[in-house]
Amino acid sequence: MEHKIVIEGGDGFTVSAEEDTLLRGALRAGIGFPHECSVGGCGGCRFDLVTGEMDTLWAEAPGLSERDRKRGKRLACQSRPRGDCTIRVRCADEYRPAVAPRRLQARLQAKRQLTPDMIELTFCADQPALFLPGQYALLYPPATTGARAYSMSNLSNAGGLWQFVIRRVEGGRGSTALFDHLGIGEALVLDGPYGHAFLRADSRREIVCIAGGSGLAPMVSIARAALAQGATPRLHFFDGARKEADLCAKDILDAIPGTGTQLTYTPVLSAVDGGDEWAGARGFVHAEVERRLPLPLDQYEFYFAGPPPMIEALQTLLMIGHHVPYQQIHFDRFV
Ligand code: FES
Repeated sequence: MEHKIVIEGGDGFTVSAEEDTLLRGALRAGIGFPHECSVGGCGGCRFDLVTGEMDTLWAEAPGLSERDRKRGKRLACQSRPRGDCTIRVRCADEYRPAVAPRRLQARLQAKRQLTPDMIELTFCADQPALFLPGQYALLYPPATTGARAYSMSNLSNAGGLWQFVIRRVEGGRGSTALFDHLGIGEALVLDGPYGHAFLRADSRREIVCIAGGSGLAPMVSIARAALAQGATPRLHFFDGARKEADLCAKDILDAIPGTGTQLTYTPVLSAVDGGDEWAGARGFVHAEVERRLPLPLDQYEFYFAGPPPMIEALQTLLMIGHHVPYQQIHFDRFV
């Protein structure tokens, strides 16, 4: 069964009554519905319900402030229509999905330990894996409620392979389920792709990829694609981690064929002290980006993914400190 949704003064679309949120129904229909994280964290998908009824999946979602709640705002990624509805939201072409998201069953094909708290999971579905480098998908780990957003680390392929780098979150039910309970051959629901921080292959600027923690996956995907397509004269990869044991990008990048002198790799550790044997960069990754890059920063194309403090520090550095045009800055906010 499907519910009809009308956007006041604009398009209409349908939402599957069984499994779709308002946001996913809109994106599947190719509507440019504003959004970023798809999991209730960013507030980008706020809208007004004009007529009809909707269930709220996560009433305390941090994407809505108290003020938003008092004004009756809702989050499209946390709303499920109960019937036909009319809504008010301003859509924009920039949010139109580059690849229409689909919901499918995928089986775990391989699990590889990358660091003490990071694993690479490879899933296989029975239809081609279509996404752009840097995009993410929603995984529904078994025996947990709701979805978790993880970026793909591989490239679009006809064989139906989806690869993710998952970091264990202390006490996190989603990552624990994927680390400890999902066995080889077991299936889960995968929904995607989503996200706007994908490779702009038509830019001829040098590319800077900055990864923090499990933000590694989309940066690896972008590096793979940019180097394979010859989309950049040079790619600078910054890998921010706490300790040396947390670094794993170098091996992954070294395995990309034909990187040669096009690629520079800079690991930066934030939790080493004077007594540690570490000859590389120390401190916060955004400070090393500013120190290390030879050209004025407004001449690069930036991609980054990682924890919110890193994202905020980079936004301040690039947009305010160096006036990098926002069209050259690409990231998705997950919280
Ligand atoms: Fe809904 Fe982020 S897209 S809160």
